[in-house]
Amino acid sequence: MPWIDAKYYAATQVMDEARHVEVFSKYLDTKLSGHYPINSHLKMLLDDIIADSRWDMTYLGMQIMVEGLALAAFSLAHQTTPDPLLKQLLRYVMSDEARHVAFGVLSLKEFYDGLTEAELLERQEFAFEAAVRMRDRFLQQEVWERMGVDVKDAIRIFNVPAEVKNEDPFQQLLFSKIVPNCKKLGLLDANDGWLRKRFDVLGVTKFEDWQDTGEEYLEFDEVNKDRATA
Ligand SMILES: [Fe+2]
Repeated sequence: MPWIDAKYYAATQVMDEARHVEVFSKYLDTKLSGHYPINSHLKMLLDDIIADSRWDMTYLGMQIMVEGLALAAFSLAHQTTPDPLLKQLLRYVMSDEARHVAFGVLSLKEFYDGLTEAELLERQEFAFEAAVRMRDRFLQQEVWERMGVDVKDAIRIFNVPAEVKNEDPFQQLLFSKIVPNCKKLGLLDANDGWLRKRFDVLGVTKFEDWQDTGEEYLEFDEVNKDRATA
């Protein structure tokens, strides 16, 4: 990050993430039957995001796309778990994650204002590629394997071709987090709506006017504040 304020912020984010790793591993290993290693497709995506030499590409990948993925995964778990302890843990973690995304949107927006259309196109392509990889490859391969299901069969059933709209609740949540943030950054409409046209094909532009994470963060924060004073 080029600015000292953003460096300070990044340091606090590292601390948040360490706390998340700690709380989730403890939960999985003591309350459940242990945890899975990182999904290999997620690992490859993270490596590519971190390997980019342009700080703002890493930032877009981590703060907007992968944090969006985290928010979607945690929201789904929060909606579906019957366990009040996990619900509460998730609520606290989501409040941190939403702050990470909100900060990412703020800093990138300022930086993007100074970019040319050609430079913005590279950011649009990067966001689209990450979105497609998350959509098409994160199919819980390691879970099928442990359950004794043939992974190739499972992928054939769960993988939805690019031209078909995917109505899977997790996919919907994922894009409901990513699309409004891309819009706020100006990525949806730059270059004659390059990204908008592609998101249209995936059937996810309908989320463009949903709450972006900056607004959502304030909501999480309110809830935590109420809980703290209750
Ligand atoms: Fe985070």
